[in-house]
Amino acid sequence: MVIIVGFGNPLLDIIVQLDDDTILQKYNIREDYEKEETANVIRLLLKDVSHLSPVFAPGGCAQNTLRILQWILNEPNSTVMMGAVGTDEHSAILEKLVQEAGVHTHYCRKENHPTGCSVVLIKGVHRALIAHIGAAQYLNIDDIRCNEKLDVLMKANLVYVEGFFVSQRVAIVEYVEAFCNDKSIPFVFNLSGVYMIENFPTEMWAFAQNADVLFGNSREYKTLIKNTNLSLSVDHFAIQLCQNYQNRKNLPYGKLVVITNGDECVICAHSGGHIEVLHVPKIDKSKFKDSNGAGDAFAAGFLAGLLLKKEPLTSMKWGCWSAQQIIQQSGCTIPKYTAQFITSID
Ligand SMILES: Nc1ncnc2c1ncn2[C@@H]1O[C@H](COP(=O)(O)OP(=O)(O)OP(=O)(O)O)[C@@H](O)[C@H]1O
Ligand SMILES: [Mg+2]
Repeated sequence: MVIIVGFGNPLLDIIVQLDDDTILQKYNIREDYEKEETANVIRLLLKDVSHLSPVFAPGGCAQNTLRILQWILNEPNSTVMMGAVGTDEHSAILEKLVQEAGVHTHYCRKENHPTGCSVVLIKGVHRALIAHIGAAQYLNIDDIRCNEKLDVLMKANLVYVEGFFVSQRVAIVEYVEAFCNDKSIPFVFNLSGVYMIENFPTEMWAFAQNADVLFGNSREYKTLIKNTNLSLSVDHFAIQLCQNYQNRKNLPYGKLVVITNGDECVICAHSGGHIEVLHVPKIDKSKFKDSNGAGDAFAAGFLAGLLLKKEPLTSMKWGCWSAQQIIQQSGCTIPKYTAQFITSID
């Protein structure tokens, strides 16, 4: 059995179907808009939509990846989620939903801070997203440096950190990365968002360089390239990132740098100057629901392949298959069927 420990923002998605524009106008929210709001605005907004029967779903990037990985690996408690939530009603709802997906939750509780959430306001084909990271950003290094958490980390076969987690918690990521190096545990990092690279250029660059496996989309890699003042194509940059890798963890393909680009090719560079390119299989338009969680699902499929010692190209195919299943669900929802088919993909 393998154990994957994820670090990220454990967010609760609160999905609301709007019948008219009243709420959007009151809070000055444009359709298809994404923004962060204060705890107070979220509280008022939730009060105003409470009569619209909000639906709860687990969210957060690393948490999504762990839920999907758990579905693929299909062995109880293969995945463990670390992060901070509040002591409010939302924390209990989130924990229950994540545990139902088979993920072991190792949340730290922060009194006086609400559990992070993303309010998804749906009107017809449009969706606006209003988020508040809340308690998640108050996780501190002592919460991780305790025996209970270190015992879990010690057993990990792989540690996965979402880029959004870097905000306010650089010291934790540095600590986890050093711990992984010391114990020879592969450290996997997802760039997660262009604005993270813009806001934390030095830190994100350091994590990108030190990660044993790096995920991101092409926009994120282009932002990294811009910040480093290199004039390289994304492919050459990926190859360069894999060079001079010490491979203290004895990974069969050395460092892996994976670049997704929506429905365009996936690229994976690995140590020794190799690069694999895979055309993303097309999805029948009628089956396409939304691309919510596609990147998180791709990472889950790819990591499942990696953990089962598949070649990089096979892991890329597993990533695509996994993303394809999630795109055919509304939101980042685990399908009702098993993921067994994935094991037949070479
Ligand atoms: N329209 C699509 N058709 C088929 N596959 C898709 C499509 N969009 C995404 N995918 C699959 O999902 C993978 C990840 O997509 P993408 O590059 O958009 O991730 P991302 O930008 O990180 O997304 P996210 O916003 O979820 O983090 C792609 O490599 C592909 O396999
Ligand atoms: Mg992504």
